[in-house]
Amino acid sequence: MSKRTSNERGLDAEAVPRRAFVGMALGAAGVCYAGAIAYPVYRYLASPAERAEAATAVTEVTLKDAQKLPTGSALMFRFGPKPAMLIHHADGSWVALTAVCTHLGCTVQYQPERNVIHCACHGGEYDSVTGKNIAGPPPRPLTRYVAKVTDKGVVVSRS
Ligand code: FES
Repeated sequence: MSKRTSNERGLDAEAVPRRAFVGMALGAAGVCYAGAIAYPVYRYLASPAERAEAATAVTEVTLKDAQKLPTGSALMFRFGPKPAMLIHHADGSWVALTAVCTHLGCTVQYQPERNVIHCACHGGEYDSVTGKNIAGPPPRPLTRYVAKVTDKGVVVSRS
């Protein structure tokens, strides 16, 4: 028959606070782990609304010295967070459009040799004057902006 020494009883008495400490440490680690997963999910879900707000916040962009753009060429620029393009057509007219494809959001490019706006992702095409979708999968036209030529540059605005 064995009898427990006082030292063994002391270890048992310390074991309960150790268990409590380990439990608290695991709980704190669990909270940190949950936060590490939840925060990116929150940012992902919140970002479309924030991006939409940022996109509408910008109403006008001045493109310095863009009035010098040769005819038959285009200039890519950012209108808020989104890419856009300014086209100087051969007849001297100016057209500003968003450069985001309405199909799946790829950035479109102006092709001066064909005078169309082309999306390389799935072959979508748009009219370079009106922005109308004319071929491929894009369901809607490109958004058109107003372009005003001044001495210092070209002012592109929503309306
Ligand atoms: S993303 Fe432009 S055609 Fe599909």
